Amino acid sequence: MRASCAAAAAAANRIDAASTRASARLTRERARCARSIADKYYYLAKEQGFRSRAAFKLVQLNRKYDFLSKARACMDLCAAPGGWLQVAQKYMPMSSTIVGVDLAPIRPIRGVTTLVEDITTQSCRAALKRVTPQGLKYDVVIHDGAPNVGGNFAKESYTQAALTLDSLRLATEFLGPGGWFVTKVFRSVEYHALLYAFQQLFKKVESTKPVASRGTSAEIYVVCSGYLAPTKIDPRLLDARHLFADTEAEIQPLDVTKDNGKRKRNRSGYEDGVSTLYKECTAEEFIVNEKPGEMLGSHHTFILDGKVRRQERDVFLAAIESL
Ligand SMILES: C[S@@+](CC[C@H](N)C(=O)[O-])C[C@H]1O[C@@H](n2cnc3c(N)ncnc32)[C@H](O)[C@@H]1O
Repeated sequence: MRASCAAAAAAANRIDAASTRASARLTRERARCARSIADKYYYLAKEQGFRSRAAFKLVQLNRKYDFLSKARACMDLCAAPGGWLQVAQKYMPMSSTIVGVDLAPIRPIRGVTTLVEDITTQSCRAALKRVTPQGLKYDVVIHDGAPNVGGNFAKESYTQAALTLDSLRLATEFLGPGGWFVTKVFRSVEYHALLYAFQQLFKKVESTKPVASRGTSAEIYVVCSGYLAPTKIDPRLLDARHLFADTEAEIQPLDVTKDNGKRKRNRSGYEDGVSTLYKECTAEEFIVNEKPGEMLGSHHTFILDGKVRRQERDVFLAAIESL
């Protein structure tokens, strides 16, 4: 009896070890895929004369939502080295107004005005006013800012969220009614608070991850359309100290497949572990979940690996395509 228990324990250990090895292999394989996607866009950017790989994220966002083809004025916040500005210049009508601002200087791009400013300052706001033709309202404000805070992820996520809020504040000042706001956001504890703020100001808010954005990165993009241009905005909505206070316990995950409309903060039922910056699940988990739309809002990566049967993979892909 004791011998058979020992044999069972040894077998269990062997299975554990095998599954650890398999999961390490899977992690390595995913990292290799992410690297090869990054390399692909690095070379594509070089080939097509874009200054950054990031340019393809805007190309893909615009392909999905088409906010540039009819825009006459675009403001790019945190724009250096200028990849997104090149995309805006390429896809917007001729002689549109395009303004880019960054802490770092941006090499000249034909038809584009650039500023060296910190977007969190009053000086930036004043400089943007100076270069904006009298009475002009922008159709699109885009923001791809990434603060450099030396690898401290928790601090980085807060600073990134605060920077996004600063860009939203500028958007509220410069966008015309019906305008678009397209921004990078890190999936972090502040994410849902930011979505809440966007939803108070725009008709439609959607989170999306362009293929050019590495699967392993916690960044996603939020596309807000139909700026409501309210005459008065509660300043607390655009104040990081207020908006991000107690975020861990306040807001429910969103179903990104639905037009969520205006939402009230819900103080109950916030999912445990939502403070995790990066979340993934298998296609199987997605398929059997009762709220797949919410999963799209709360997870970064959906794994289609060898363990998923072909039929399940097809169901999963069909579900994604139908969104
Ligand atoms: C990922 S890069 C933007 C890439 C750009 N979209 C492109 O395609 O070339 C992020 C930029 O955010 C800028 N940035 C970070 N904090 C900023 C701030 N407070 N004001 C202005 N720019 C800022 C950085 O200088 C950096 O150039």
